[in-house]
Amino acid sequence: MKALRFHQYGGPEVLQIDDVPIPEPGTGEVLVRVSGSGVNPVDWKLREGHLKDYWPLQLPAIVSREFSGTIERLGDGVSGFSVGDEIYGIADGSCADYLVAKVGDFALKPPSMDLPDSGGVPLAAMTAYQGLFDHGGIQAGQKVLIHAATGGVGSFAVQMAKWAGATVYGTASANRLDSIADFGVDVPIDYKAQRFEEVAKDVDLVLDTVGGETAERSLASLKSGGVLVSTVGAEPKRDGVRSVSFMMKPSHDQLSKISDLIQDLKVRPVIDAVVPLIRAIEAQKESQTGHIMGKLVVDVRR
Ligand SMILES: NC(=O)c1ccc[n+]([C@@H]2O[C@H](COP(=O)([O-])OP(=O)(O)OC[C@H]3O[C@@H](n4cnc5c(N)ncnc54)[C@H](OP(=O)(O)O)[C@@H]3O)[C@@H](O)[C@H]2O)c1
Repeated sequence: MKALRFHQYGGPEVLQIDDVPIPEPGTGEVLVRVSGSGVNPVDWKLREGHLKDYWPLQLPAIVSREFSGTIERLGDGVSGFSVGDEIYGIADGSCADYLVAKVGDFALKPPSMDLPDSGGVPLAAMTAYQGLFDHGGIQAGQKVLIHAATGGVGSFAVQMAKWAGATVYGTASANRLDSIADFGVDVPIDYKAQRFEEVAKDVDLVLDTVGGETAERSLASLKSGGVLVSTVGAEPKRDGVRSVSFMMKPSHDQLSKISDLIQDLKVRPVIDAVVPLIRAIEAQKESQTGHIMGKLVVDVRR
């Protein structure tokens, strides 16, 4: 099968499309014929070795971690799924014709979504869900500030926060303020021209996917008792507020819930582009610029 791999840590120049053996599903695993492989910032962070102290890779490694596809074969002990089921989820090495996924890390994809596009949903959508609900404890009627509302995580988070009944403040570049208002942001903020903390005040929850100065300044937006939830390890301190950072954990139940939200049109995934495997390296470079709108997906069958 074809797979986008790197044999050593480094920049995009270490990426190459290789011919590799099809993996074997073990107990509690399924073999998936991949359709969509979602591109995420973690792909370049892993490839460049930024995470290798606590997330070492066996090289050569196949790129990307989220997928959609069709179950090709069931490993021992797998029940509740059948060959031919269209699923989406998290598995190492998704930018390939086939992968092995663990039961518990995937669910049936939303029926209304095209199979390739749905490969761009699981990682960002579960991160948004866990940030808002599991770590942020979002409640109806709260004020929530979502940074990078145009990003993969942010574009899901805005819609989920609206579904939860919150008033949503969101940051984006000037030319994308209309877009984030379309996803549901009540108060769009131009992060380059405005001090967001002067607009978003007394908020209950900040979901921060930017970090650094943005995380520090976000403390001023929070009301006493509020919480800052970070996807990038930022835990700035202020008396009377809580800061927490987390790593997304795959969850079958949350993916099923996300399928329902998409099916019920509560959440509409923002897919920037779906590109063929031959353009996968360009997609990786584009993601690394940090200026994607929504999600980029590689359709490995094209
Ligand atoms: N902890 C976890 O489990 C977890 C899971 C998923 C993601 N993450 C991390 O979370 C971060 C975000 O992920 P993502 O997939 O959402 O990234 P992304 O889609 O690549 O984010 C890109 C977006 O961020 C916007 N942006 C950049 N700087 C900004 C700023 N200072 N203020 C407001 N918006 C800004 C960009 O808008 P402009 O182009 O208009 O500037 C662009 O639309 C990444 O660092 C990723 O590694 C962590």
